[in-house]
Amino acid sequence: MLELKDISVSYGPVGALHNLTINVAPGELVTILGANGAGKSTTLMTISGLVRPQSGSIHFSGTRIDTLRSHEIVKLGITQAPEGRRVFGPLTVRENLLLGAFTRSGHPREVEKRLDWIFTMFPRLKERKDQMSGTLSGGEQQMLAIGRALMAEPRLLLLDEPSLGLAPLIVKSIFKTIKDINQAGVTVILVEQNAKAALKLADRAYVLEVGHLRMEGPAQDLLDDPMVQKTYLGVS
Ligand SMILES: Nc1ncnc2c1ncn2[C@@H]1O[C@H](COP(=O)(O)OP(=O)(O)O)[C@@H](O)[C@H]1O
Ligand SMILES: [Mg+2]
Repeated sequence: MLELKDISVSYGPVGALHNLTINVAPGELVTILGANGAGKSTTLMTISGLVRPQSGSIHFSGTRIDTLRSHEIVKLGITQAPEGRRVFGPLTVRENLLLGAFTRSGHPREVEKRLDWIFTMFPRLKERKDQMSGTLSGGEQQMLAIGRALMAEPRLLLLDEPSLGLAPLIVKSIFKTIKDINQAGVTVILVEQNAKAALKLADRAYVLEVGHLRMEGPAQDLLDDPMVQKTYLGVS
């Protein structure tokens, strides 16, 4: 479904990704792990068309996308919930979600159906649908950022560190919903520093180290791998 082949990205003279090759099959939940600065966000932004690769190619369902503009990539069915759960504070929860449907411009009835689906995934958002988004808790804002990305009816959802700065119980609830979203048929790439939780959730994983692919494989294999345990899971 998604093929990154030999992708290299530099910010000015500084290389952020070096010949990165990643493949994601339809229906998979794939996680990209790595320490701060490893290039995880850069990978997602390159897929979304917000950052241009210096070399390599990206194909999505057979279409080459690394030359497309980001709004064209959204139209093809890829959306991203950005790092730092950016929502529009002065707008209500419902208004924020409707913004996510903007690129779809579907029939109002379709948009309402989509809203209902998101409220089933995140009942907390339903309870707070008329609340100003700026007054939501961190966890609720993260739910809203994911919900907004889902409003565009993506086939591939990109999530950038949804657990960042959230309490363990909230993380658990959000990760469970990510699994539900995936099981509803949305392919997911989950970027995380929280390696343990992400590996438990994912089918497969890639590990980045300062812009290089260090490891890849079934999530369970990585959970069992001594190097991964030592470096990323805090097992000594
Ligand atoms: N806009 C930018 N300008 C210059 N360097 C950047 C920019 N964004 C990221 N970088 C650098 O690229 C590398 C990878 O960053 P990033 O993809 O954000 O990593 P991660 O998400 O894994 O923490 C880091 O060294 C970071 O400092
Ligand atoms: Mg990042």
